[in-house]
Order: sequence, then structure tokens, then C-alpha cells
Amino acid sequence: MNVKQTIQARRAYRSLEPVEITQELIRDLAESAGLTPSCFNNQPWRFVFAHDPEVLRKLHGAMSRGNDWVQAASMIIAVFSREDLDCRIKGRNYYLFDTGMATAFIIFEGHGAGTGGPSDSRI
Ligand SMILES: Cc1cc2nc3c(=O)[nH]c(=O)nc-3n(C[C@H](O)[C@H](O)[C@H](O)COP(=O)(O)O)c2cc1C
Repeated sequence: MNVKQTIQARRAYRSLEPVEITQELIRDLAESAGLTPSCFNNQPWRFVFAHDPEVLRKLHGAMSRGNDWVQAASMIIAVFSREDLDCRIKGRNYYLFDTGMATAFIIFEGHGAGTGGPSDSRI
């Protein structure tokens, strides 16, 4: 699947089938984040890949209203960042922009790595 196809196929699926979470998948997703451009290559993002069933269950309580569909997710990727981890140039903070780009790279990697819809999504 090329980039254009991946962009066109990606959707915010809310009907999820269980999928096997492998170390290879997590490594691929983390590598994609690591290849994302960031100001001075600061890489201000921190991702936590949660797939242990008990941890997933605890995380469900942290979801905002209307996100009950997450209970069917085989993995939740928690995204963190902090202002002081990235550039502040002429009063502009870069950490949210850079972390958002890395998150997008992870989303596209997840979809491009074998997916098309809810029944065969890997994440
Ligand atoms: C910053 C951001 C926050 C979002 N929050 C939620 C959310 O809390 N629950 C949800 O189901 N979808 C959420 N979405 C997904 C959007 O609703 C979805 O991208 C939009 O409806 C367009 O659909 P598509 O992604 O399938 O094209 C969020 C998307 C973004 C970019």
C-alpha cells in the first residue's frame, strides 16, 4: 500500500476486531515515530504501548465520554509530550506540532502495515 492509498484508506474505525499485538508491530510503530521530523530532531514525543488486558481495562476509565468503542481495542497507545522537550522559537512552542506529526506517522504505519478496515486493522 503506497502513501496515497494509506491516506485514503485510513479512517477512525470505531468497530474493532481483536488483533495479535507482536513486538515486531510495536517496533515498527516506534520506528516510524523515530523517523518523524522534529525541531532540532528533539523528538519530544513519548509513546506507551499498552496491550496487557489488565492495563487496557484500567485505561478504559481514562477515556472521555463517547469513547466506549475503545474497550474492543487490542492496544492503546498513550501519547505524551512536554513543552520543555522541544523548541520554543519567537514565542512559539513546537512540542504539540512535532508530537502530532509523530502520532500521524504511527497511525499511517499501523494502517499501511496490513489494514483496510475494522475487520483486518492491526490497531
Ligand atoms: C485531535 C483529535 C481528537 C479526536 N478525538 C476523538 C474522540 O475522542 N473519539 C473519537 O471517536 N474520535 C476522535 N477523533 C476522530 C475524529 O472524529 C475523526 O478523525 C473524524 O470524524 C473524521 O473521520 P475519519 O478520521 O474517519 O476521516 C479525534 C480526532 C482528532 C484529530
